[in-house]
Amino acid sequence: MKERISQIKALFLAQAKAASNLQTLQQLKSDFFGKKGFFQSLMDEFIKIQDKESKKEIGALLNDFKKEAESLLIENEKALTLEQSNNQNISFDPTLSVPQADEKGNLHFYTKFAEEIENVFLSMGFSIFEGPEVEDDFHNFTALNIPKDHPARDMQDTLWLEGKQNLMRTHTSSVQIRTMLAQGAPLAGISLGRVFRHEATDATHEISFTQCEGLVVDKNIGLGHLFGTAKKILQEIFQRKDLDIRTRPGFFPFVVPGVEIDMRCVFCTKGCSVCKHTTWIEVFPGGLVHPNVLRSCNVDPEKYTGFAFGFGVERLAMLRHKINDIRLLKSGNINFLKQF
Ligand code: FA5
Repeated sequence: MKERISQIKALFLAQAKAASNLQTLQQLKSDFFGKKGFFQSLMDEFIKIQDKESKKEIGALLNDFKKEAESLLIENEKALTLEQSNNQNISFDPTLSVPQADEKGNLHFYTKFAEEIENVFLSMGFSIFEGPEVEDDFHNFTALNIPKDHPARDMQDTLWLEGKQNLMRTHTSSVQIRTMLAQGAPLAGISLGRVFRHEATDATHEISFTQCEGLVVDKNIGLGHLFGTAKKILQEIFQRKDLDIRTRPGFFPFVVPGVEIDMRCVFCTKGCSVCKHTTWIEVFPGGLVHPNVLRSCNVDPEKYTGFAFGFGVERLAMLRHKINDIRLLKSGNINFLKQF
């Protein structure tokens, strides 16, 4: 039996040395130490040995073989695992296709457009103001000179939350109030964010859309500052130095006088369907902050004046990219998005 043990051991050592991958090593383990393997057949023989001395001697040989084999198997397994993982790191398949540039993930072009607007304002010295989307009556209406039962509340179809205490803000003008209350005057900043209205959607109206509110309060602020700011912003957004603006009266309870600022049509010179054949496009509502609004925010209207505006960001994005339906912006339609 001693002879058989040394033969099987020699065979095992030779095969263990030659095993070049984990699969072969696993097979070796099962051939020699599996339930029906060589070692088990040696054990079956060993059990039958009657002579105590021989049993002791053979038992020791079998033990040594098993221990030696076990540690060799562990060592080989470690080395082969390492080798395999190294090979995986450097292995490549030259036939695999490389993702095309346009298949890479991207920020939505509208997100980039909104960031661009913020950056233009930041470059002009404006700060960024933040405010909540869930508002209360005071910040969304009352402090903006729109008392309860004022007909102007109907201009913005409100989505009230249960209990009618809170609402989804109908415009970013609520951020004017929060910022003036917190910071006082002077200040200059914008707030760009989502607003909500209970409206039927169509090609130019969404139930949730984005507004960019601007507010500047300081000594001797006048309409000229508002017009200059509007012109500069529109020129930057439409990348046209020669872009012209005009103003018309507009009504908003929180500004006096209120204005609508139009920009010269960027698509034509003589009139087209976008400008309804007038060569002007309405883009920039604003005005001088109403003294009542300043008072609501503890700012003295005898000392300070201010201008405010609040334009629709989707409307400008649609004009810049010639998009004819606002609903496409949130559609997630990949063919539409691939164009940008
Ligand atoms: C307001 O919301 C005022 N708070 C703006 C303002 C601020 C005026 C400060 C004066 C001073 P208005 O309801 O007109 O105004 O909305 C402003 C802009 O939001 C519109 O010119 C339009 O571009 C956009 N807008 C309004 N309703 C929708 C809608 N349902 N879907 C998409 N854009 C809209």
